[in-house]
Amino acid sequence: MGPAAVAVLVILCAAGAEARVPAGHLATRRRDSVPAGVGACALAVAPFGYPCEEHTMTTVDGYILSLQRIPRGRRPSGGGGAGQPVLLQHGVLTDGMTWLLSSPEESLAYILADSGFDVWVANNRGTRWSSRHVSLDSSSRRYWDWSWDDLVVNDMPSMVDYICSHTAQKPHFLGHSMGTLVALAAFSEGRTVDKLKSAALLTPVAYLSHMTTPLGILLAKAFVGEAGGGEPLQGTVPPSWNQLLRPPHRLHRYLYFLLVLVCVHASRGFRAERPWRVRTAGKNYCLNSSAVDVFLQYEPQPTSTKTMVHLAQTFRDGVLSKYDYVWPGVNVEKYGQPDPPAYNMSNIPPGFPLFLSYGGRDELADPVDVGRLLGDLRGHDPGRLTVQYLEQFAHADFVIGTCAKDYVYKDVVSFFNRFN
Ligand SMILES: *[C@@H]1O[C@H](CO)[C@@H](O)[C@H](O)[C@H]1NC(C)=O
Ligand SMILES: *[C@@H]1O[C@H](CO)[C@@H](O)[C@H](O)[C@H]1NC(C)=O
Repeated sequence: MGPAAVAVLVILCAAGAEARVPAGHLATRRRDSVPAGVGACALAVAPFGYPCEEHTMTTVDGYILSLQRIPRGRRPSGGGGAGQPVLLQHGVLTDGMTWLLSSPEESLAYILADSGFDVWVANNRGTRWSSRHVSLDSSSRRYWDWSWDDLVVNDMPSMVDYICSHTAQKPHFLGHSMGTLVALAAFSEGRTVDKLKSAALLTPVAYLSHMTTPLGILLAKAFVGEAGGGEPLQGTVPPSWNQLLRPPHRLHRYLYFLLVLVCVHASRGFRAERPWRVRTAGKNYCLNSSAVDVFLQYEPQPTSTKTMVHLAQTFRDGVLSKYDYVWPGVNVEKYGQPDPPAYNMSNIPPGFPLFLSYGGRDELADPVDVGRLLGDLRGHDPGRLTVQYLEQFAHADFVIGTCAKDYVYKDVVSFFNRFN
């Protein structure tokens, strides 16, 4: 990478950062689909006839997050007592609406509620209903100065604590995509494991080396400012992608560091531009096109640029570590060592009940990468590790697929019941 290439990158990066700030098209769409002051309960849950409560809580670092609670199903339950709480955690570039849009027969949130569970739907910082902070404005840079490490340390433990104290019970956890990455990283550091009964991970992500999804392109576009335009997000990662993220020499490392600084600090959060495709991660097996249209009225949601950079580092490095500040001095300042510390999946307590479900056609949670995670979990108590492989499933099938109820959710319900 010569100086000219660096100059080009800086220019493209600046252009990309600028292009992301006023998210014109998406913002317009959102205003149309969500009237001001209306929450997810009123918008998505109440029309199906379920009880629903809006909750808000504040993380230690000041982010105000919202949770939707569906305390029971539509039919009055026999026992009348409170059901077992379950926390549903969405993935990157989406929010809790992911779980609430399909019909009650097809959506995991409603299926769990109708099976007697007390369902809590998470919304990470930066998404539509969790965009407030005690002192920072969501249009400021400082508001967006976090990576998924901060979800591991703050958002997930805070939400689990909130549910524990509100219901006086330990919840089960269920995550999809980046929701599983955050959970696995937290478990590997011993966070929340003693406060959860079990965890079900759909499309578990710990390693991303074999990711072939066009989401990679989306990530690349975040850096090189090609977002927008009319092409569908298809194809593979461009050759420059690796070079961009792995500068070969030390001098370039410093230049790259400056570049990342410029990119991260010039941006106020990452927004995926249209056209967003649900087919961003493999050819899905049972998506209903009208359900997909509904989904696209609410997604994608913004996340921080630092989160996208961090995911890109996971893809590049083939290891799961904390955010790499690239400059060894900065890493020493943050972590006390020149390289960011790794999350070690072998440290997940072997007696913690885990359910993993993954798909053969998933281009994001690629079966090879999931295999590596399973290798790390080989010391896990076999009675407490359930693994399900669905050859025909891709990434989105697990959340909005019409057949997920038959292939996945039934088993999730019986897994939770086993560890109640
Ligand atoms: C697809 O979704 C629409 C609207 O939600 C519904 O009317 C239709 O029955 C669904 N089709 C299938 C195959 O599930
Ligand atoms: C992870 O931890 C296990 C023991 O818990 C250890 O054997 C292994 O070397 C560690 N892996 C890494 C990459 O540090």
